[in-house]
Amino acid sequence: MDSRISARALAAALGGWRTREPAYEALADSIRLLCLDNRLAPRTALPAERELAAALELSRSTVAAGYRSLRETGHIASLRGSGSVTLPLRRRDPGRAAAAEGAIDLQQASPPAWPGLAGIMADVAGNAAALVSRVGYDVLGSVELREAIAAHYVRRGVPTSASEVLVTTGAQSAIHLVASVLLGRGDRVLIETPTYPHAVDALRRAGARLVGVPVTTDQGWDLDRAEQAFARTLPVMAYLMPDFQNPTGRSMSQAEREAFLLAGERAGSVLVLDETTADLDIDRGSLPAGFSGSDPSTVVRIGSLGKTVWGGLRVGWIRAEGDLVRRFVAARPAHDLGTPEFEQAVAAALFGDFGEIAAQRSALLRAGRDALVGALETRIPQWRVPVTHGGVSLWIELDAALSSALVMDVRSRGVLLSAGPRFSVDGGHDRHLRLPFTAPPDELVRAVSSLAESWTSVRAGAPVSFVERVESIV
Ligand SMILES: Cc1ncc(COP(=O)(O)O)c(C=O)c1O
Repeated sequence: MDSRISARALAAALGGWRTREPAYEALADSIRLLCLDNRLAPRTALPAERELAAALELSRSTVAAGYRSLRETGHIASLRGSGSVTLPLRRRDPGRAAAAEGAIDLQQASPPAWPGLAGIMADVAGNAAALVSRVGYDVLGSVELREAIAAHYVRRGVPTSASEVLVTTGAQSAIHLVASVLLGRGDRVLIETPTYPHAVDALRRAGARLVGVPVTTDQGWDLDRAEQAFARTLPVMAYLMPDFQNPTGRSMSQAEREAFLLAGERAGSVLVLDETTADLDIDRGSLPAGFSGSDPSTVVRIGSLGKTVWGGLRVGWIRAEGDLVRRFVAARPAHDLGTPEFEQAVAAALFGDFGEIAAQRSALLRAGRDALVGALETRIPQWRVPVTHGGVSLWIELDAALSSALVMDVRSRGVLLSAGPRFSVDGGHDRHLRLPFTAPPDELVRAVSSLAESWTSVRAGAPVSFVERVESIV
């Protein structure tokens, strides 16, 4: 069934859309960005012109002109009697065209594969006869890999046995499985904002009502808000990234970790700790002890080799107490029938080299971060660049709330990015931009040059009243 978006929901998703003149083009651009980000899925029915005009306090002719512009660029179709519907993106999208010509794609923060991976794959392939003699359907995961993952937790100070580990096809599938087992329609889930957008998608699909708790690059987690949200909404689950949070790069202090554990325990919530980025340490040295020690039965950890080794490996896992693991295993076949044997064997072998992998990652991410920070300080000194000790990205604060307009403009210059609101749970973050530092340093420096040109043009095109008004309220 095709979906529809109400005028109110579209107005909320558009946020501070009025970033240039004429207003109808600014509106059309903002809707284009929602389509590009997949925040508006293809075949979504848009509100009637009159309703959107009322929700945005605009004249109907402005909305009509915005829809006309979207029709002309092939982003929507308007059918007599059934209103306007978004269309699948076409090749004509400037970002796609640019991508074909060697654009810099920073929409995903995905480091290149660890250089030793191909060699390990070749070794495992040499043993293919033994692998294909297995049954092949394995919803729990191979014992060799589960033991390697358990040993990895033990090294990090979290006592774990192989029976507490379930192997998944990446962390994303782990989030989906945990959400589908633990959540019912309308259940509250506490979540950081900004956060990892595909977790939001998975939780919402499982029926969750999300309660956002702010995290900032300066102050970290807003513990007052978190404690109030736990006490007032009694969330079934809290989804958190305690180490090198995506996108802010912040890590929880010991006190923050303890506060979340305590508040979660009082509210009876399961704490789901997504540690996909936890091993991407550039300068911190070691993990603080907060969430280590024996896990209470209400803590579920999710991990992955996606960022540490390669996104294409598609190996992740869930670490949870035995009963929960059994519930996840029972629910899994509806979703998939296991992780491929070859990838599991490669993953098990990789854990033997984990020290070397972490050191290579650290060097690679340091080079990216330092190149990006250096280029930003030189080319766009008016942006506030946070001190970031690990993870995959910088969460930049712009000097005007024009993130979406910037992302649209720089796209036409061959740099593909996601705007701040993509990482938001309940709207906002128009003043922020996530810049991954996972690409090669020379690409990052080129991307910053394009951003500097774009920023000059976007700021010059923004209505003066808009920039001033937004600056005074943000
Ligand atoms: C915080 C976080 N969780 C989960 C994922 C998904 O990981 P995987 O590729 O293992 O599915 C990502 C990938 O970007 C991520 O950043």
